[in-house]
Amino acid sequence: MGKTYKIAVIPGDGTGPEVVAEGRKALVAAAAKFGFKLEMTDFDFGGERYLRTGEILPDTAADELRKFDAIYLGAIGHPGVKPGILEKGILLRLRFELDQYINLRPVRLFPGVETPLKNKGPEQINYCVVRENTGGIYTGTGGVSMKGTPHEVAVQSEVYNRFQVERCLRYAFEYARKYGKKAQGKGDVNTLALVGKTNVLTYVFDLWERVFHEVGQKDYPDVKREYYHVDATCMYMVKSPEWFDVLVTSNMFGDIITDLGAETQGGMGIAAGGNINPEGVSMFEPIGGSAPKYTGQNIINPLAAVCAGAMMLETLGEIKAAQAIENAVKEVTGTKLKSLSAGKMGYSTSQVGDLVAERV
Ligand code: IPM
Ligand code: MN
Repeated sequence: MGKTYKIAVIPGDGTGPEVVAEGRKALVAAAAKFGFKLEMTDFDFGGERYLRTGEILPDTAADELRKFDAIYLGAIGHPGVKPGILEKGILLRLRFELDQYINLRPVRLFPGVETPLKNKGPEQINYCVVRENTGGIYTGTGGVSMKGTPHEVAVQSEVYNRFQVERCLRYAFEYARKYGKKAQGKGDVNTLALVGKTNVLTYVFDLWERVFHEVGQKDYPDVKREYYHVDATCMYMVKSPEWFDVLVTSNMFGDIITDLGAETQGGMGIAAGGNINPEGVSMFEPIGGSAPKYTGQNIINPLAAVCAGAMMLETLGEIKAAQAIENAVKEVTGTKLKSLSAGKMGYSTSQVGDLVAERV
């Protein structure tokens, strides 16, 4: 018998529990086939719990979660709770407290999936965004004064120190070396592109750019370095996604461009991400929200959660199992589903989960 992995599961709000249930099926099938065990423990963090108890997240949560090998998350966000409270109080807090300083968001079009990009297919839409995940404007540095008066001042600063920038860039270089286009057998070089705004944010992205070239030149001379402004990146993501291999960027820019990326890969139904602490415990999630309007109808697409599960296995080192889930998803999108949109798949949420699990 292989290893046993302890997985903390946070199904969360809205459709989170439904998609996590389908992800579990694929995980369980993969574990059985590849000879390892998953010991899953559920946590009820989310909007319901907050409304019931008044507590957003217990102070012990991060310490509790640190005892696990990985965290599998559904979605956080509840229509009965003011926007920002749960997002900041649960999702962002866990990312920060667990120091998950990388947000890994592949943008890959699977076979049979419709993209809004004309004349682009799986060969063209195949890159990955490494988003810095615990710094920048998300740290909330700043404040407000004279609130409610005509003179109100609001400041929220883009704050990065060299340590944060360097560790993120190093992760991205390593990732490009290991998973870039050359590593995939799809090109003659692995490329890492820094996405920034050096023409306006002349302090912060100057820091990023200097460290990028310094570290790249010294320790990753085999990885080709490119730079794009973030606005131009949006253009190319639509016009020429095939130019990209691995992209690395700040927290805020990464948040924005990965929603665009998700749309080009078929939408939130398929887009998965990993909040990664390479030295600690990482958390995997579908990047779409809790989709409250679809809750309980068995029509939401669970594939993003399934793919997040595959990313989790890959990070745990169960590469073959991860690959098996991914191949199963590709077969299901390629041969079964009519669409990736909720209610239009031609199958229910649980049927899609079964289709994948059967193929694992
Ligand atoms: C994401 C989400 C979060 C973020 C929100 C919910 C705080 O948009 O994971 O991309 O901005 O990081
Ligand atoms: Mn986002």
